[in-house]
Formats: sequence, structure tokens, C-alpha cells
Amino acid sequence: MQPRELLLIGMIASACVPALAQGPTFGFGRTPTAEEIKAADTAAAPDGTGLPPGRGTAKEGAAVYTQKCAACHGPNGTGTPLHRGLIPLGNAKPVKLDESLVPYATTVWDFINRAMPWTQPGTLTPDEAYAVTAYVLYLNKIIGEGDVLDQTTLPKVRMPHRDSMIPAQPT
Ligand code: HEC
Repeated sequence: MQPRELLLIGMIASACVPALAQGPTFGFGRTPTAEEIKAADTAAAPDGTGLPPGRGTAKEGAAVYTQKCAACHGPNGTGTPLHRGLIPLGNAKPVKLDESLVPYATTVWDFINRAMPWTQPGTLTPDEAYAVTAYVLYLNKIIGEGDVLDQTTLPKVRMPHRDSMIPAQPT
């Protein structure tokens, strides 16, 4: 059989997958618990909508960071041979990744709260998430060590690259 024919068969087979996905199980995975769904079902908007009550400073966040983040992101947010550091987030010379050019501090909070620590996402308490976000922003010289982040102050943090964003234009 020619590679093209094989490709075609592959494409037809993959088109059938959605139908199969309706089936009961494939023998792996499990139904998430209500708590797991709740942990993932959050979103913080730039104006602060969706942020939970809680608070934290960089000083407090340093302890959370050492315990839950440093193994992957390095002792001072500078990375390890395996993982990226967290310093370029918004610096004058950013690494051009989506997250380094993030326009809103609420997005940093939301990502950390939703996705980190990598192996245990959704396990940070609101206070831990505020504190460790404060620490990451402090490492990037965006806020001071004693600045309190909470529902009101976090949306007011101005990310250095807020104005580098060009809204997508309809074509
Ligand atoms: C087990 C390893 C691991 C741990 C622990 C961990 N992270 Fe991450 N982190 C990653 C990986 C891998 C990525 C890249 C994810 C991606 O690109 O989707 C990442 C990405 C990030 C990013 C996006 C910025 C960037 O440079 O990619 C932030 C911010 C972040 N982590 C913060 C934290 C914080 C805060 C903690 C502690 C609460 C933490 N991480 C714990 C592995 C880890």
C-alpha cells in the first residue's frame, strides 16, 4: 500500500474516533470527583471577576514557593536544566512566550491557581495562590515584597507588557 493510501485510511479512522468516544470507557481514566471539577472550574477575569477571597504577600509566597515550586522552577525562579525559570515574566527583555508577555496579572494568578504545581494542579489554597503569585511578580520586579495581593489589588497590578499587545483584527 502507498503511504498516501495509508494516510487516507488513518484519516478515515480518526474521523470515527469521536463516535467511539461516546462509548462507556476505554479502560483508562476515571470520572473526576466534584472537588476536582470545582478546582479546575475557575477563571479570573482581568477586572478581578472570579477571584476568591484571600490574600498574600511575596514574603509569605517565598515559603510556598520553596516548598511547592522550587524543585522545578529553581531556588530563585531562575529555572533548572529541566524546567524554565519564572523570571522573564514581563521583564524589559522578555522571552517571547505567551506567558512572558502576559498583559494581566490576573492571568498569572489564574494559571498558577489552575495549573500549578504541575503534578498537583488545583491544590493551592486561595491564600497560597495569592502569596506565590505575589512572589513570582516580586521576582520579576513588578510589585514590592510587602505588597498585599487580594481580590481588589491583584487586578490593579499593571504588567509591563500590557501595551505591547495588539488586539486581533478580524480579517
Ligand atoms: C513538577 C514540576 C513543577 C512544579 C512543582 C511547578 N511547576 Fe510551574 N511549570 C512546570 C512546567 C513543566 C511548566 C510549563 C507548562 C507549560 O508550558 O504548559 C510550568 C509553568 C509555570 C508557569 C508559566 C511560566 C513559564 O515560564 O512557563 C508559572 C507562572 C509557574 N509554572 C508557576 C509555578 C508555581 C508558582 C509553582 C508552585 C506553586 C509551580 N509552578 C510548580 C513545572 C512545575
